[in-house]
Amino acid sequence: MKDLTPRAQDLDPIEIASRDEIAALQLQRMKWSLNHAYENVPHYRKSFDAAGVHPDDLKSLADLRRFPFTVKTDLRDNYPFGMFAVPREKVLRVHASSGTTGKPTVVGYTQSDLDTWADCMARSMRAAGTRPGDIVHIAYGYGLFTGGLGAHYGAERLGCTVVPASGGMTTRQVTLIEDFGASTIMVTPSYMLSILDEYRAQGRDPRESPLQLGIFGAEPWTNAMRAEIEQAFDMHAVDIYGLSEVMGPGVANECVETKDGLHIWEDHFYPEIIDPISGEPVADGQMGELVFTSLTKEALPIIRYRTRDLTRLLPGTARSMRRMEKITGRSDDMMILRGVNVFPTQIEEQILAVKGLAPHFQIELWREGRMDCMTVHVEADAAHASADARAMCGRALCERIKDVVGVTVVVDVTEPDQVARSQGKAQRIIDNRPRTV
Ligand code: DLL
Repeated sequence: MKDLTPRAQDLDPIEIASRDEIAALQLQRMKWSLNHAYENVPHYRKSFDAAGVHPDDLKSLADLRRFPFTVKTDLRDNYPFGMFAVPREKVLRVHASSGTTGKPTVVGYTQSDLDTWADCMARSMRAAGTRPGDIVHIAYGYGLFTGGLGAHYGAERLGCTVVPASGGMTTRQVTLIEDFGASTIMVTPSYMLSILDEYRAQGRDPRESPLQLGIFGAEPWTNAMRAEIEQAFDMHAVDIYGLSEVMGPGVANECVETKDGLHIWEDHFYPEIIDPISGEPVADGQMGELVFTSLTKEALPIIRYRTRDLTRLLPGTARSMRRMEKITGRSDDMMILRGVNVFPTQIEEQILAVKGLAPHFQIELWREGRMDCMTVHVEADAAHASADARAMCGRALCERIKDVVGVTVVVDVTEPDQVARSQGKAQRIIDNRPRTV
């Protein structure tokens, strides 16, 4: 793989500023953001008043813990534009989450917000190893989802040639990558696996593709998956994180030279980790739920937003800004089997450790009597498609999950192409347990 480390002189000065400089900027911006929210959004005025705090009470960054959290339902309750802090005419773009139940959550951006977003995305892509002049193939979905357009404007801001492919039509994705010679691809890791299948189906060697770098996010994925994709394509695989409520993609990104977790762009987004049960902040290094406060957003200031994503904060390495470890999973996706907490990422790691299994899987939950049970549906690769080989792989996976994760599961190893493919965010869990009322 080619060395894609960016040159030090190309970084924004704040990326390598001292911690004191970063903290001073954060405090100044946090005061502005709290005031902006309190003065312009009735929801924040009400919630701060109810908690007995005022933006003037913030004297240090540590005082943030006195302010109330914001949760997804606060956005839903104020649907569609009730959380906006500027007149609607100043909002130049909206995005929305699909919202499987009930109303979607709507987010908005002023011109200045769109500029900040493009800057943060350009910074993320530069950290990942993309350079001005590169051809960037974007296979995140375009539309209300923030992935496509977020990546698009960031890539333009960096000075790249953008191929706005969006998701789907996998055969065409491969044709475009090959014919246009994209060196960066931006896509969910699970859809990248579908693109990999397509390369093989077309009889093309993925290692001969022009791709040098993939910027993968929007769903949890493991270092084992990184190794799998890097090996298959002979390219770098780098993690990008973000969420629409906080901005979209480009809140945090890994650096290609270290690949040791995602540097959070702390000059715009202030992170905390809290104990998800008590809501109390925990020290850096401790696992918990990630919480963000926006420092510069105009249209939708977001104060102490509970992401439900589980990770921990680590000190800076390639940049001064702190890192978040790769996300273990969302608290909503945590399964509890006989008292043991299990995340899909833990199952993914074990699948990738068994020779003969392909990285396509889904987890089915069901109930037997009062017991919750799990079946892992996973595909064998082409060389292990026989019944005997599949049975052997299944036993190996079952044992690994028992030994490493500590739970007994049923493993169903299918022939190739039997597990549903993703064209965006993969659906890892199928919950067939009877609904309890
Ligand atoms: O997924 C924004 C995005 C687009 C990020 C493209 C990266 C690339 P939402 O649809 O609002 O926004 O979903 C946000 O997706 O709270 C996480 O649970 C999950 N997520 C996003 N990035 C990662 C990642 C976009 N790198 C939710 N690792 C977040 C794990 C991720 N989970």
